[in-house]
Amino acid sequence: MVYCSIAPAKLILLGEHFVVMGKPALATAVDLYAKVCIERSDEKWIESSNLGEKTRIDSQGVPEKFRQFQLIAKMVEEMAGVERGFYARINSDIPVSSGLGSSAAVSVAFTHALMGFYGVEPKLEEVNRVAYEAEKVVHGKPSGVDNTVSTYGGLLYYRKGVFKRVDTGVLDECTIVIVDTRIRRDTGQVVRKVLDLISRDDVFEKIYDIAEIIVEKALDAVSKRDLHRLSILINVNHGLLEAIGVTNYETEYAVHRLKELGALASKISGAGLGGVVYGLFNKPIDKSLFKEAFDKKGFGYYIVKPVSTGVKFASI
Ligand code: PMV
Repeated sequence: MVYCSIAPAKLILLGEHFVVMGKPALATAVDLYAKVCIERSDEKWIESSNLGEKTRIDSQGVPEKFRQFQLIAKMVEEMAGVERGFYARINSDIPVSSGLGSSAAVSVAFTHALMGFYGVEPKLEEVNRVAYEAEKVVHGKPSGVDNTVSTYGGLLYYRKGVFKRVDTGVLDECTIVIVDTRIRRDTGQVVRKVLDLISRDDVFEKIYDIAEIIVEKALDAVSKRDLHRLSILINVNHGLLEAIGVTNYETEYAVHRLKELGALASKISGAGLGGVVYGLFNKPIDKSLFKEAFDKKGFGYYIVKPVSTGVKFASI
């Protein structure tokens, strides 16, 4: 028997980085997925088609990028009260280290599939708890927003481990375009850089307070389905990300080109300093529009849709 689970990517609409210091964020699950399939084996193997590598996690010297799986296996085995060999295959549509929460989605899908494999009921609260611990192994000081969105799906208002579902209505009217600068970076490193910068001057406290006000106002705009007001707030939020030093030439290029092409709002999503930028358009968009703007830069682009369901079992 093979147990497969899929978990969606997350797109932070507003609030990344500020959320690490306890401010709120608004984030949605989108239709890019990480998939993990697990079957019985003699030893414990993880194979990642995205990394092009496989490794045993029940032996000495597990490579750093596979350590999160070792922790997840230990936690799930404690719940199951047994330990068995398995072979886990990871396949993900979510670009790695880009701002779409690929590591969290993989951890969530792996936890869910492994609970299925061990016959433990995959309660979402438990999946989320385990995946959060795995995120700590990967990033050091995660806010928890990535694993929460991947686990539960939908559009969430998130703050310090607590979240509420928000109606996605306002997004139904828009096209969300993600531009991937293909500059890969380490979330933990970018977070540490920001934490170092903000410790140097108390002006940043004010910036964090404004970030909080912006997310509260955005929540209000979403509930009133006021796309124009939401867009203004997203654009201001991008300005604050510049203020905390996580934009660069490539992300600014993508942000400005998206606006020239008609986006009402465009902003970094995720840790920044590369990775992805998203644009919000108030009409359907033909993908070919982006060819001229982004092909020559070597950027990727996707049109994504919010999804209301988080992690779930899937067929092989
Ligand atoms: O770049 P990503 O997908 O790892 O997102 C990071 C989001 C941060 O707010 C910068 C960190 C966090 O843990 O919330």
